[in-house]
Amino acid sequence: MQLLDGKVVSQAVKNELKEKTRLLTQAGKKAPHLAAILIGNDGASETYVASKIKNCEEIGFKSSLFRFDSNVEEAIVIAQIEALNNDDDVDGILVQLPLPKHISEEKIINIINPAKDVDGFHPSSVGKMVQGLPSFLPATPFGIMLMLQHYKIDTAGKHAVVIGRSNIVGRPMSILLSANTNPGNCTVTLCHSRTQNLKELCLQADIIVAALGKVSFLTADMVKQGAIVIDVGITRVADSSKKSGFAIKGDVDFEKLAPKTSFITPVPGGVGLMTIAGLLKNTYNACVQNNRY
Ligand code: GUN
Repeated sequence: MQLLDGKVVSQAVKNELKEKTRLLTQAGKKAPHLAAILIGNDGASETYVASKIKNCEEIGFKSSLFRFDSNVEEAIVIAQIEALNNDDDVDGILVQLPLPKHISEEKIINIINPAKDVDGFHPSSVGKMVQGLPSFLPATPFGIMLMLQHYKIDTAGKHAVVIGRSNIVGRPMSILLSANTNPGNCTVTLCHSRTQNLKELCLQADIIVAALGKVSFLTADMVKQGAIVIDVGITRVADSSKKSGFAIKGDVDFEKLAPKTSFITPVPGGVGLMTIAGLLKNTYNACVQNNRY
């Protein structure tokens, strides 16, 4: 069993972006600028956005955070996005999800200028991804592809089972793994809450991506010997032994399952860090494209 180490791979991505950003600014060009919008005070969203901003700073990107109360009017958020769309200094716009119920996720995502859609959630970005055209890829599946690439994992012809069909992870993951690319070229089964024979499908899988958000859902009896397991889960579970009062748990029963695998991602220290790496790469690319560098 070998760990797929998100710390190592994300650091390699960040080192590369930091050097490229240094070269840009040295040549008198502007640094990439990410604008993040955070609505409400969900603890997990606060942590993710703070981490995204901190990582921008670490590698020399500019970042701006726009915070709104959970009861903010939708029109005010839309006006903020339009202002960022029109601001030539801003390269990437991110609206942290989930949104309060009275704000339409669809409307908000649609209003973001596709050239600044560093989350890759706009229908224009999704359409390009499906067709295999250059586009911003959603950060988590993008990060997982970067990780598979880093460890030179041969995915061609392998059976990949993706558990979870969210627009943020499962569905785009299934598209990227089935694309005619390297990594990619998998035969993909996309499983969800209505899948009837999940255990049998998982037992046939060479690669499993668990992205359903249920702690320790994937157990050792569900994977075959030598499988590659990618754990996307990041659920907060109360833990009084931690300073924060909670521990981060994945969708995989790591302790019992890891010895059966050939490669596995830890939680924390796996996919979560790669999500940030994917976002930073998208933001750098947006800067280069939008400014014609
Ligand atoms: N909420 C959970 N994951 C994500 C993500 O990748 N981007 C945004 N904007 N919100 C999220």
